[in-house]
Formats: sequence, C-alpha cells, structure tokens
Amino acid sequence: MRLLVTGGAGFIGSAFCRRLRKDFPQFVLVNLDCLYPCSTRTLSKSSGTYHFVKGNIQDTGLVSALLHKYSIDTVVHFAAQSHVDTSFTDPMSYTRDNVLGTHSLLEACRMYKGIQRFVHISTDEVYGENTGPVFTESSLLKPTNPYAATKASAEMLVHSYIHSYGLPAVIIRSNNVYGPGQYPEKVIPKFLFQLLDEQKLTIQGTGHQLRSFLHVEDAVNAVLCVLFQGLVGEVYNISSHDEVSIKVLAAMLVQLVKPEEKPEDWITFVDDRNFNDKRYWIESKPLAALGWTQRIPFAEGLRETMEWYKTVDKATYWCDAKQPKALVWGHKGWIGQQFVPLLKAKGYEVVEATSRADDREAVQAEVDSVHPTHLVCLIGRTHGEGYTTIDYLEQPGKLIENLTDNLYGPLCLANTAKQQGLHMLYMGTGCIFTYDGSGQKFTESDVPNFFGSEYSTVKGITDRLMCEQFADTVLNVRIRMPISKTPGPRNFITKIINYKNICSIPNSMTVMEDILPCLVTCMDKKITGPLNATNPCVIEHNTILNWYKELQDPEHAWTSIDNTELLRSCVKSARSNNELDTTRLQTLFPSVPTIQVSVRRILETESFRSS
Ligand SMILES: NC(=O)c1ccc[n+]([C@@H]2O[C@H](COP(=O)([O-])OP(=O)(O)OC[C@H]3O[C@@H](n4cnc5c(N)ncnc54)[C@H](O)[C@@H]3O)[C@@H](O)[C@H]2O)c1
Repeated sequence: MRLLVTGGAGFIGSAFCRRLRKDFPQFVLVNLDCLYPCSTRTLSKSSGTYHFVKGNIQDTGLVSALLHKYSIDTVVHFAAQSHVDTSFTDPMSYTRDNVLGTHSLLEACRMYKGIQRFVHISTDEVYGENTGPVFTESSLLKPTNPYAATKASAEMLVHSYIHSYGLPAVIIRSNNVYGPGQYPEKVIPKFLFQLLDEQKLTIQGTGHQLRSFLHVEDAVNAVLCVLFQGLVGEVYNISSHDEVSIKVLAAMLVQLVKPEEKPEDWITFVDDRNFNDKRYWIESKPLAALGWTQRIPFAEGLRETMEWYKTVDKATYWCDAKQPKALVWGHKGWIGQQFVPLLKAKGYEVVEATSRADDREAVQAEVDSVHPTHLVCLIGRTHGEGYTTIDYLEQPGKLIENLTDNLYGPLCLANTAKQQGLHMLYMGTGCIFTYDGSGQKFTESDVPNFFGSEYSTVKGITDRLMCEQFADTVLNVRIRMPISKTPGPRNFITKIINYKNICSIPNSMTVMEDILPCLVTCMDKKITGPLNATNPCVIEHNTILNWYKELQDPEHAWTSIDNTELLRSCVKSARSNNELDTTRLQTLFPSVPTIQVSVRRILETESFRSS
C-alpha cells in the first residue's frame, strides 16, 4: 500500500502512523500535517518508507504533487481542527480546515484518479446530542456545535464524491478517543495535567454530560479494520462500552492520581460551553460484523494514560509548547554546574543571570528583557574563604552576607516570580530540623526547629517565608548533605572520608544524580510548595565509611566521636541531624532509590580514593 495520511501528527493520526510503521514497514507512508500547536513533534523526521511533509490540505497543488510523487493509492484523512471549545470562538477557521480542507483534498484525489481507497475520519458529534434511542449509521445528522457542523459538512462532500465521481470512500464516526499523546485541551489529559500540577479539576457546567471513551489503540484497530475490509460507500460507527458522566470521570481520575484523597476536594465547577451535548450514544454493528471489538478496559487504559502523562516532556512532545526558558542565578556554583546541563538536556533554554539576586530593580529589568518561563535560584552562602563548610558564617561580620545571600536574595527573586506569574525553583535546605526525640520524620508542613548555626537559622526563616508567602509560585527544595558520583570538596562522601573524627548519626541525604532530574520534571509540571528532596530512608556516616573501606581503601581509618566532642574540638557550630519524610517525592517519583541503595552503587562504581 502507498498511503497519504492527513493529520498524522495529531493525536489519533500519530498513533495510526506509529502502528503502520511498526506493523507494516513495507507500506509507503506520507504524513501530511500543518503542525498545529496540538500536533506532536515526534513524527516530523522522514526515514525509509516514511515521509513527513509539513503542509496544509487546502493546498491542492501540494496534495496533487504528493499523490503523484509517491504514487499514492490510499488516503486516510484525519486532518481537522478538533477542539470543540475553540470552535465556539473561531468557527470560520473550522470551516476552512475541516470543510474547505476536505473539499480540496477530495478535488486533488478526483483529478489524480489513482485512489483505490479513501478513509474519512468523522465523529459521533455529527449526530448531535442523543436524548432518545441509540444512534445507528443511518440516524439523522443534527450537529449542535460549529466543530460538529463542519465535520458533518465534510462528510456530505465525501458522500457526494462517492456518488458523483466514484471515489472509493468509507466514513468512520468515532466516540471520544483518549490515550497517550492527546493534547491537553481534551478532557482526560486536561484533568490529568491539572491533578499532576496539584490543581483542582475544572468541570464545565454540572458535569452530568455523558461521554463514551475509547482507547486510541482500539480506535486505530477500527481504522485499520475499515481500511482493509470496509465496504465502499459505507459508514462505520466506532462505539465504546465505557460511558461515564464527566463528574464520574473526574472522580475516577482523582482516585487514580490521588488515591488517598476525596474526589470532591479536587473538583470545581466552571461556566459551561455555549451548548454542551448531553450524550452521544451510538452503536457499531457494521464494524462488529467486520470483526472489530473494543479490547482495552477503561480502568487499564486510564492507568496507562496517567503513567504516560506523568513522564511526558511537554516541551518536546507537542508543537505548542513554547520552549521553556530558565533564568538561573547561581549557575557557576557546585549545584549550578550540575543542574544547568540537565536543564539544557531537557530542552530548556538557559540564560545565566547577570543581575544580583538582591538587587530588585536589576532583577526586574533582567526578567523583563529575558522573558523567562522559570526563575531558578541556586544561590546561597554555605562556605567561603578558608572554609569548605557553613562554619564560614560563624565568623564575626558575616551576618550581612548570610542574610543577603541566604534570605534577601532568594526572597527578591520569589517576589519577582510571584509578581510576574512565573514558576521558580528555590534550592533550599533540609538542615533546618533536628531530631526532637519523638521519632517522627519531618514533613513538608513542619516548622524549622534547629537554630544551632547561623546558616540553618537564616535558611529556616527563608524556608518559612517561602512556605507562607510563595507556596503557589515557588518550588522550595529541601536537599541535605548532597552526594554526587563525582568526588569533590562539596561532595558529602569526599568530605567525610577526609575527616579524622566522625560523629556518626543516621541522616537523610540527597544524591544529586537521583534528585536533580526530578526537579527539572517538577519545573516542567510547575509543581510548587515545599519538597523534601532527599532519597528515601536514612544512612549513617559510618555506613558510608565502612563501604568505602570495604570497596575502595582497606586502610581507611577514622575515630568515632560524639556530638559534644564534635562541637568542642572539630566545628564552630552545631550540625542539624534529621530524617525528612519523603512521601511527596516518592508519590511524584516512585523510582527514586533509597539512600543506601544509591550510595552503595556510587561506591561500587566511582573511585573516591585521594579525592
Ligand atoms: N479525539 C477524538 O476523541 C475524536 C473522536 C472522533 C473523531 N475524531 C476525529 O479524528 C480526527 C483526528 O482527531 P485528533 O483527536 O487526532 O485531532 P488532533 O487535533 O489531535 O489532530 C488533528 C491534526 O490535523 C492537523 N490539521 C488540522 N488542519 C489541517 C490542515 N488544514 N492541513 C493539514 N493538517 C491539518 C493538525 O495539525 C493536527 O496535527 C479528526 O478528524 C477528528 O475530527 C476525533
């Protein structure tokens, strides 16, 4: 077969193209799509028998040229503007793409004369709302919204070309399709993104409207079935058994994404559409007679879809996504040097800030000229001349530096982010808590209880203000005792193998290679509020040193001391020891390894000798 697929970068068209490439690699496949914002970027490279062409079906000259160039014998016509909501505000563009576009395509096919099969993809919405018995393929078309009217009009044109010019066409009318890849204007991906972004689901009107949902792979199977076996001139409905009201759908999604929560706490009602059909109830006996059945159970399909939306990189998947742009303070620092390459690898444009974070006017001016989508604050004062630790801040005269870099600078950035409606990542610390004897882990809502060092005291106040005033703008990341695969003076493993005296206490710690990628995903999803960003569970200093001794340096020795001795002879200020509760992190990123697994793996693979 030599196919022209229109709209093959759209939701259903792209699933169809992927399937053809997988199951029928011998077919010549030309994908013509004008790449609207809802289209995927992922299919726009030609290779082998697959050819991607960016163009509009209204361009009869282009379509004719493609039909001839590739000796096309089959057309599968998905291309359409398909979002009902936008059709209310911009109806004429629907007429241009869906009616005129279909007519131009039909004309090109008529003149070309070599088409043996033309599959036209339509919708159940052409019937209008269903208040009585089930609709069959011969029911009257009474569309109620501009999108549906243009789809019905396009069908009329197809029908006329079958009769007037003998075009071997078949028409498919499908129920609502869902699944991985659907652009988040449609209800299921919109709801999933709202929940994953910690927002309430916005139900239009009462939520009592009924919709039947079909997994995209079932829809693709139906299209293939009609493509190979459908009778020319016939119409085939694709109906789903899974009919639910939008309110019930919302509750199902809340249960899926937030099983611990009550659906009613995550639902809010907004203005209804101009007109919202109550129900599209169709049956599909002719399709069943060809052997098609719906295979994917709704619960299973929804779960798989949720997993996909959890990990999709919006910036690279759909065409709409404006490339995210991060304006970064602290890019030269130890964490900055690790984080910036990750941002770039995930498609972020990174601009290294030149303004000082504590210079409010300069920050504002820089944000105005750069137009970032995110601010990233990796600044902080943790060490300085003569010191690799926070003891630097215990010296007389360092309070201003501490307040400027650990409190005022981050707050200036948070304030600007809030005023501009921008997401901000603030790299804070979990060293603001100390074990209180209760055996409890510290959660995101706990208030700092450790004031043993100048550093922790100031950072604790910053943490509080971030939580109280900027929780809807700032992702307040609490890392602790950072560890990386690469040895270095700021790496906690390097630090402790160089200390002679060790006060070994179980602690939460952060492995940068595990946590930093999660933070980029949090930025993609605009997740805000405090986040305990340590690997799950705790580890003792002695465990790390024993593994180092076992795996890398059998001669390694150290002296164990207690906290009093540590304070008396080794450090200028007390150190915070605690366990952070990582439930939020684990819910967002279930695959983050425990601290023991991760540290052991590092010591098994990376050499820290003479670091
Ligand atoms: N998604 C559903 O639930 C559903 C249900 C029933 C029927 N349909 C129909 O299935 C088809 C595909 O729907 P979808 O959900 O994949 O839509 P979509 O909006 O995700 O994809 C449509 C694709 O068509 C392209 N396109 C639009 N106008 C074009 C033009 N003039 N020239 C070239 N390309 C153009 C867009 O760039 C986009 O990539 C549509 O015809 C739609 O009416 C969809």
